[in-house]
Amino acid sequence: MLPRGSIASSSVPKTSVYGSMSSTSDDSSALATPYPDSEMDPAIRHVGSYEPAPGEQSIIYDEPIKKSITLQTREPSKHRYGLGDFVFHRTLGTGSFGRVHLVRSKNNFRFYAIKVLSKEKVVRMKQVEHTTNERALLSRVQHPFVVNLWGTFQDPSNLYMVMDFVAGGELFSLLRKSTRFPDPVGKFYAAEVALALHYLHSNNIIYRDLKPENILLGADGHVKITDFGFSKLVPGVTGTLCGTPDYLAPEIVEGKFYNKSVDWYALGILIFEMLAGFPPFFTTDPQPNPFKLYELIVAGNVVYPSYFDEKAKDLIRRFITADVTERYGNLKYGAKDIFAHAWFAEVPWERLYKKEIPAPYVPKIESDGDASQFARYNENNTLDYGRHADDPFGHAFPDFDYST
Ligand SMILES: Nc1ncnc2c1ncn2[C@@H]1O[C@H](COP(=O)(O)OP(=O)(O)OP(=O)(O)O)[C@@H](O)[C@H]1O
Ligand SMILES: [Mg+2]
Repeated sequence: MLPRGSIASSSVPKTSVYGSMSSTSDDSSALATPYPDSEMDPAIRHVGSYEPAPGEQSIIYDEPIKKSITLQTREPSKHRYGLGDFVFHRTLGTGSFGRVHLVRSKNNFRFYAIKVLSKEKVVRMKQVEHTTNERALLSRVQHPFVVNLWGTFQDPSNLYMVMDFVAGGELFSLLRKSTRFPDPVGKFYAAEVALALHYLHSNNIIYRDLKPENILLGADGHVKITDFGFSKLVPGVTGTLCGTPDYLAPEIVEGKFYNKSVDWYALGILIFEMLAGFPPFFTTDPQPNPFKLYELIVAGNVVYPSYFDEKAKDLIRRFITADVTERYGNLKYGAKDIFAHAWFAEVPWERLYKKEIPAPYVPKIESDGDASQFARYNENNTLDYGRHADDPFGHAFPDFDYST
């Protein structure tokens, strides 16, 4: 079987899917086989924040990890923004639901990224709840490896989210250009992502769309996770099929309830993809058929390239096991098992968190607002921004202010 990385379509970013199987809502009751909490799979039920018993020493308990889980959130910004505050420049990226533009503030002349979502499309694709979550969660989180959301607004046709412009481009582009990353490079990105996921999980947020397209690099080369379109506050379990096919855990594919550990599964896929240049499960069909891919995911047979480090293989295996009672990040010691894993042995977590470990690749950024690290897209989509129009869906997005 040809690695997906070497076929022409491999450079097309994988887009996210939503609800094409059993459920169309995040309400677990929409699942085909609902079962009451009390009968939940005990393996899933026992998961949660691990509190060491009095006197019990956790495997690693150092400041860095502690700091990254201090549930630091922020008050949502009180700034009010409108279209009139920005000059729109080129497109930085597109996804299934949005188009992201480079913009410049007319007030402070700084560059930002604005994600624009068509209200009509969001409603039609049943994404109202997800978009509401995206705004609510991203405006509360604060972490060195997560993108910052400054504010949001709407006009009759669109929703707008004002974020920091993350200038270094997608990890996806760097990976495809590099074919694959040497082990220490993959480890660096995996470790920063692990800190971000751990932070989100400590705040009961499942991210649900980890993939190289959603991991951006700052001008300093450190990661910034973007796209909270599928993130959700989930202290326990949930059941919606959403994410990106290559990165879906078997329990999601099978329509079961699942918990935060689907993000650790996805980190296992990400590590594999970074080290190999292609993900562990893929099909080479000219017409991608997610159901064939899902069969491979459920079967779980992985062929590891011979050049993989044994410790990397071990960690990947512990992440991508279908048995959630065995999955790292989901065991008694939670994320501590991950931070203490042998593949990460040389990672100084506290210094990593403080960005004291130099990034393996520093993007060439000529000036503020240099978007040369991003692919080019056709540009005729700003036409209806701010235009007067009927607004049949405005009521669906009460958290987005009307632009002035
Ligand atoms: N803050 C940012 N700075 C620079 N570029 C960004 C930023 N946020 C997003 N992008 C670019 O825009 C792309 C699309 O954004 P995003 O992933 O949020 O859209 P989406 O429609 O939700 O995508 P998906 O298909 O993954 O669901 C990203 O992959 C990235 O290239
Ligand atoms: Mg995306």
